[in-house]
Amino acid sequence: MNYTLTIAILAGTTREQRQSIKAAQFVAEIGRKQEGVEILLVDPKDFTFNGDGNDPEGKDPRYTDITARADAFFVIVPEYNHSFPGSLKRMLDSELENYNHKPVAIAGASSGNWGGVRAVESLVPVMREMGLVVTSVSPYFPRVQDLFTEDGSIKEEYKQQYESNVSRAFEELLWMAKTLKWGRENSK
Ligand SMILES: Cc1cc2nc3c(=O)[nH]c(=O)nc-3n(C[C@H](O)[C@H](O)[C@H](O)COP(=O)(O)O)c2cc1C
Repeated sequence: MNYTLTIAILAGTTREQRQSIKAAQFVAEIGRKQEGVEILLVDPKDFTFNGDGNDPEGKDPRYTDITARADAFFVIVPEYNHSFPGSLKRMLDSELENYNHKPVAIAGASSGNWGGVRAVESLVPVMREMGLVVTSVSPYFPRVQDLFTEDGSIKEEYKQQYESNVSRAFEELLWMAKTLKWGRENSK
């Protein structure tokens, strides 16, 4: 199976002072180092989703196109009130069929010490309902505001640890992406 895999990295928030975008950019950077992979960084700030749901008027055609092309997803979810932010859920809700039988890795982020573990766990049943296959390897970004420099680079003292955690998550995600792509193309 010699596939080029398209991986959509989904950032989780839209607020002006957001910190988790740096974790999403870092994940995208590690993704670009993987062989045979095309990385699309998806920022909910760049899309418009009118109203709720997934009726034609509630979709953004650019997001529809990305989800159709993607072979896998990697979501970076910061914890908002022990759950996921509304803007991420709104974006996810705008599609359904394009997720089916594709894998998703979930990374957590938070300003505290838990790294968004409750946000990750609360997203799992949502992903399952959407037909996505959740991988078992989740990197966490606790105290996300302390991990990166102003320009968004990971601080030297955290580089090795976080590169290793995110690379391990990609290893699992890419295995699933290849296997499920083969399945989508070869089984009825
Ligand atoms: C509305 C709101 C609710 C939050 N709730 C939690 C929480 O329940 N647990 C937690 O660890 N951090 C919580 N935080 C802190 C966020 O995890 C932290 O600010 C993180 O950087 C948020 O991602 P963002 O910067 O991309 O918006 C909350 C932040 C906001 C804005």
